[in-house]
Amino acid sequence: MVTLAENPLRVGLRQERTPEPLIMVIFGASGDLTQRKLVPALYHLKQQRRLPAELTIVGVARREWSDDYFRQQMREGIEEFSDGIQSEEVWNSFAEGLFYCPGNMDDPQAYQKLKTRLEELDGRRGTMGNRVFYLAVSPKFFAEAIQQLGAAQMLADPLKTRLVIEKPFGRDLGSAQSLNKVVQEVCAENQVYRIDHYLGKETVQNLLIFRFANAIFEPLWNRQFVDHVQITVAETVGVEERAGYYETSGALRDMVQNHIMQLLCLTAMEPPNSLDADAIRTEKVKVVQAMRLADIHNLENSAIRGQYTQGWMKGEQVPGYHQEPGVSPKSTTPTYVALKLLIDNWRWQGVPFYLRTGKRLPKKVSEISIHFRQVPFLIFQSAAQQANPNVLAMRIQPNEGISLRFEAKMPGPDLRTRSVDMNFSYGSFFGQSTGDAYDRLLLDAMLGDQTLFTRGDEVEESWRVLTPALTAWEVPTDPALVPTYEAGTWEPEAAELLLNRDGRRWRRL
Ligand code: BG6
Repeated sequence: MVTLAENPLRVGLRQERTPEPLIMVIFGASGDLTQRKLVPALYHLKQQRRLPAELTIVGVARREWSDDYFRQQMREGIEEFSDGIQSEEVWNSFAEGLFYCPGNMDDPQAYQKLKTRLEELDGRRGTMGNRVFYLAVSPKFFAEAIQQLGAAQMLADPLKTRLVIEKPFGRDLGSAQSLNKVVQEVCAENQVYRIDHYLGKETVQNLLIFRFANAIFEPLWNRQFVDHVQITVAETVGVEERAGYYETSGALRDMVQNHIMQLLCLTAMEPPNSLDADAIRTEKVKVVQAMRLADIHNLENSAIRGQYTQGWMKGEQVPGYHQEPGVSPKSTTPTYVALKLLIDNWRWQGVPFYLRTGKRLPKKVSEISIHFRQVPFLIFQSAAQQANPNVLAMRIQPNEGISLRFEAKMPGPDLRTRSVDMNFSYGSFFGQSTGDAYDRLLLDAMLGDQTLFTRGDEVEESWRVLTPALTAWEVPTDPALVPTYEAGTWEPEAAELLLNRDGRRWRRL
């Protein structure tokens, strides 16, 4: 019998650990991500006493800011986008470790200047040459920055230096492979942390616990008992101010290749041998390797795209995608995608995985639902005695929780059945918020734990799975041929059909 202390799940998951003293160098320091997410997350970790006193942050960007101006900007970010400054003492100690070093991503001199500044800070702050370089810049600068860091010998020591790369990692299989080559030329895979913030969400990590720390679900988790799986990541927001980026990306690249693939991998992977980062990452890669679009010859049977048109949300009229600022009226960029995927292995052969994601849908909700098979023989005859298939729903956000739907007898002398839900809610059980994904991911990158980061081969495999749809949708088309859905409604009709054709329908959320 495994005792609590010996239980690898308990030992491996969230230990109270503190990183070694180090300098976190953030490229893209004047950008939104740094101000809204990264620095507030680091500050949050500081408040929780999870950071060493020596922790030093150096922001790098083109603008000619001073250290003080950078500190002021970051303070505003914490005040506006996070819980604010609770203690001036904590802020002062955090701000003492904040520095700014202006520089152009493509200027070798800038890297030399940065290197000298970091060495000088090592002496002052006791950071001992330990570095985490975080690329929070536009993806078009990734390769350049990595090459320059390599040329300046700033990633040369595999024990002291790490590289964190934001998403998207490539825009198709070819570009992901090229970027991986650039990375491999300057550092080893164990120095690389490809971020997908979905892996930092508690509910996503709980998929591993739910599946592998409970004995009763795993025996049912296969083609013998599961009819199909649905994954929905629905957003109410539109493209907002991000048309410049979104027009070159679209829902498939923005949400499916990364976030939804992670949800799918954790749902479908085999149990790893241990909680070791590579044991988990290897199982994830294996499942993506076995994945394919259900029908690549007739793409409409496995990949549907859509664009929102003008509609109403919460009583307000909202513009259609073509009317959003910065979007071409001829754009065919999908703001909605639904896919039917199959996994060719013993566990999942023949079980469809239906994925959908979209902007301007009626609700913000992310959920994975496992739809079990019908009972093998129905003894109930009347309409009042139905036996709906069981559904296990794992709610990623919001109202994080898990529910199991089953049939029950309605009270009374007649034999009538009804579907009921057994619910677990994170909020009401643990009574605390699940925290921001970046807190966890930044801490792990500083600790050198790669479990929640995507390995190079996994990224390439996930691009491979999507290649037929990416290629087909890249062909210039009459925008009128792209299916549409009214803002504030669920999917385009074609996406309903994707399931109806198989005798199924999307779960109403
Ligand atoms: C980002 C996408 O990666 O994830 C955005 O670029 C999307 O378009 C966001 O809105 C969704 O993240 P979350 O955590 O709000 O579900």
